[in-house]
Amino acid sequence: MSSMLPGAPWLLAHKSMLSMQPRKISLYGIDYVMWKDVGGNVHALPNACPHMGAMLSEGWCEIQSDGTSAIVCPFHALKFDAEGCTVLPGPNKKTLPQLNPLSLIIQGDFIWSYGGYEPKIPIPAVLNEIAKTYDFIGHTADASVETDLLTMLLIMHDYNHQNGTHRDLFQITEVEFHRFVDNGHHSHAFYDMPTAPYSLIEKLKKPDLFLLPSTIKAHLENHFPSLVIFHGEMPLGKAAQCHIFVPEAENRTRTYILLFGQAKNPAFQLFGSTYLKFGKVVVDQDTDILGKIYANTPQKIKLNNEVGMDWVRRNFENFPDVTEPNFSNFNY
Ligand code: FES
Ligand SMILES: [Fe+2]
Repeated sequence: MSSMLPGAPWLLAHKSMLSMQPRKISLYGIDYVMWKDVGGNVHALPNACPHMGAMLSEGWCEIQSDGTSAIVCPFHALKFDAEGCTVLPGPNKKTLPQLNPLSLIIQGDFIWSYGGYEPKIPIPAVLNEIAKTYDFIGHTADASVETDLLTMLLIMHDYNHQNGTHRDLFQITEVEFHRFVDNGHHSHAFYDMPTAPYSLIEKLKKPDLFLLPSTIKAHLENHFPSLVIFHGEMPLGKAAQCHIFVPEAENRTRTYILLFGQAKNPAFQLFGSTYLKFGKVVVDQDTDILGKIYANTPQKIKLNNEVGMDWVRRNFENFPDVTEPNFSNFNY
C-alpha cells in the first residue's frame, strides 16, 4: 500500500468526463462506479453489486420520482441510490446502505479523493487558479497502464526521453536545461528543446506541424504526486496541459490530460483539437515505453538533468514529509 502513497489526494475526474452514463474509476485496488446526475452532482459507489457482484458501471442511471438518480445493476436490475440504499421488490421498502460511498472532495469541476484514507497533504490549489483564468479545452489520453506509481512518476519527470520515446513527434535536437526550483512537494523545471526543422513538404502533408514552434520552451510545474502541468506559450495563445496520475492498484496506474487554453488570437480555439491530439500521441508513446522497461534494473548510468527524477524519489521515500537536500539549481 505504501507504494501508492496513502494520504495523498488524487484527481479522479473532471466533471466533463462524466455523465448519466456510469463509468468505472479505480483507486487503491478498489473499483468504483461514478456518475453525474441531472443536477450535475457526482457520486461514487463501490462497483461490485452487493447482490451477486455484477459491475454496476455496466448498468445504467435512472431518475427517481423524487428527482434524484439511481444506478441500476445490469444483472437483476436492483437500483441503488447515491447512499447505496436499494428498494427490494416485495416489501417495497428502502434498505439501509448496502454500499459505502467513496468520499469525494469536489472543487468546481475537479473531483478529488483521498480514497478513504486520512489526508496527509493538501489538495493543490493550482487547478482552481487555472480554471479561473483559462478556458477548459478538453480531456484526452485517459489510459490505464500496467506499471506502478513510482515508475509512472519517474517517466513524467524525466527530461531526457524526448529523443527516444518521443523521437517521431518532435525531432528534438537537444535539451537545454535551465533551472529547477525545489519547493518541497512543489517544483518547477525550465528547459528549451530546439527541434529539427521540418520541410515545407512535410508540413503540408501534416498541417499540424505548423503549430510546433522551432524551439519548444518547456516550463513544467510539478505537484507531487498527482499532477504535472506543462505550460506552453505559442504565438496564438497559452496552454496549460495538466497530466494527472491515479494509483489504480499496486501495479496499475492511470494517467490522463486536462487541457486549458488562454487565447491571444481567436484562431487558437480552432486548434484545440489538434493540441489534444498532440497530447494523446505523447501519452501513447509514454505508455508504450512503460510496457518495455525492466522495472527493477539497478541504475548504473546517470545522465545530466535527472534532477526531476531525484526530486520524485526523495518525495516518494519520505512521503508525507519533505526533507533536505534542496534540489534547486541554476544551469545558465
Ligand atoms: S447482481 Fe446486481 S442485482 Fe443481482
Ligand atoms: Fe514523455
